[in-house]
Amino acid sequence: MSDTKFTPRVFSGIQPTNHLQLGNYLGAVKRFVEMQNSGVETIYCIVDLHAITVWQDPADLTHATRELAASYIASGLDPAKSILFNQSQVAEHAQLGWIFNCVARMGWMNRMTQFKDKAGKDREKASVGLFSYPTLMAADILLYHTTHVPVGEDQKQHLELTRDIAMKFNNDFGVDFFPLTEPVIEGVATRIMSLRDGTKKMSKSDPSDMSRINMTDDADTIAKKIRKAKTDPDPLPEALEGLDDRPEARNLVNIYAALAEKPAEDVIAEFAGQQFGTFKPALAELAVEKLAPISSEMDRLMQDPAEIDRILAQGAARAREIAAPILAKTYEIIGMVR
Ligand code: TYM
Repeated sequence: MSDTKFTPRVFSGIQPTNHLQLGNYLGAVKRFVEMQNSGVETIYCIVDLHAITVWQDPADLTHATRELAASYIASGLDPAKSILFNQSQVAEHAQLGWIFNCVARMGWMNRMTQFKDKAGKDREKASVGLFSYPTLMAADILLYHTTHVPVGEDQKQHLELTRDIAMKFNNDFGVDFFPLTEPVIEGVATRIMSLRDGTKKMSKSDPSDMSRINMTDDADTIAKKIRKAKTDPDPLPEALEGLDDRPEARNLVNIYAALAEKPAEDVIAEFAGQQFGTFKPALAELAVEKLAPISSEMDRLMQDPAEIDRILAQGAARAREIAAPILAKTYEIIGMVR
């Protein structure tokens, strides 16, 4: 159930680290475009402040920020319909993030699995920012009184924390100020898995480039990665349940379904009994057909970085118009002298 006091508003973000991969596209960006085109107000951010929770080379960060903006636009996000901007241009994110550092409890933060995964064995060397990452994410969302956040499955815990923060803030100050935001984790592509290991999610940071399809890969690379994707020796089953213990096969079927915009059942019906020798080339052809236009449009947009910067600056100005009064009201609720 959505919070009815608040008008529907969608916000989501992606980190500008490495190239966008197919999981980000199918699990996030493609959904962003659908929501934009459904007519609801949409705000999509490039979360550069989150990116620096782990080391980023400055020139690479600049490039990745522009490239992600180019992927947004090439995938169908329209700066006239959606607000597109990079987080660091709207200082209110960091300001509200600080306040939420004072709302969130250490016990909640200590349960965040992403910190444990990302910090790895040597937690003492992780940045403080990596630990408090989820409070900044809550700020991103609540700064706009966001009602819905489209994300992949891996962000679920962060969205729960965002609701806990909103609830505690509202309770502590006796207000009904921040909404209880709904995660939107829907469709076949909420968890696209690695092409090399069907039990690991596809990720920008996997050391093996063969584990993922990057949005910048050319047609030959995409075809090669799909051809080499790990599978099992059996043909595709007659029904979806036949994929239950076959994570790699299930993943390729899900990717096909998401790209073709069909239910996975229909894909199984179409390929039942066929070998991967038939299915993989069909998948590669579909992937190239859907992704090649996006990557060539990205290339075109990247020829004009000044235009990308202009779009981001304009988006940031529009974002600030929404964010500034909400932050001002937050300070007032807390009792800060303004
Ligand atoms: P990030 O940059 O890791 O990923 C961006 C989006 O892509 C989704 N995703 C996937 N979906 C399906 N299959 C996969 N293999 C896969 N890999 C990634 C993620 O779930 C995400 O939706 N913390 C966020 C960024 C963020 C944010 C926010 C998101 C910061 N502030 C506010 C929403 C709202 C992150 O690291 O995403």
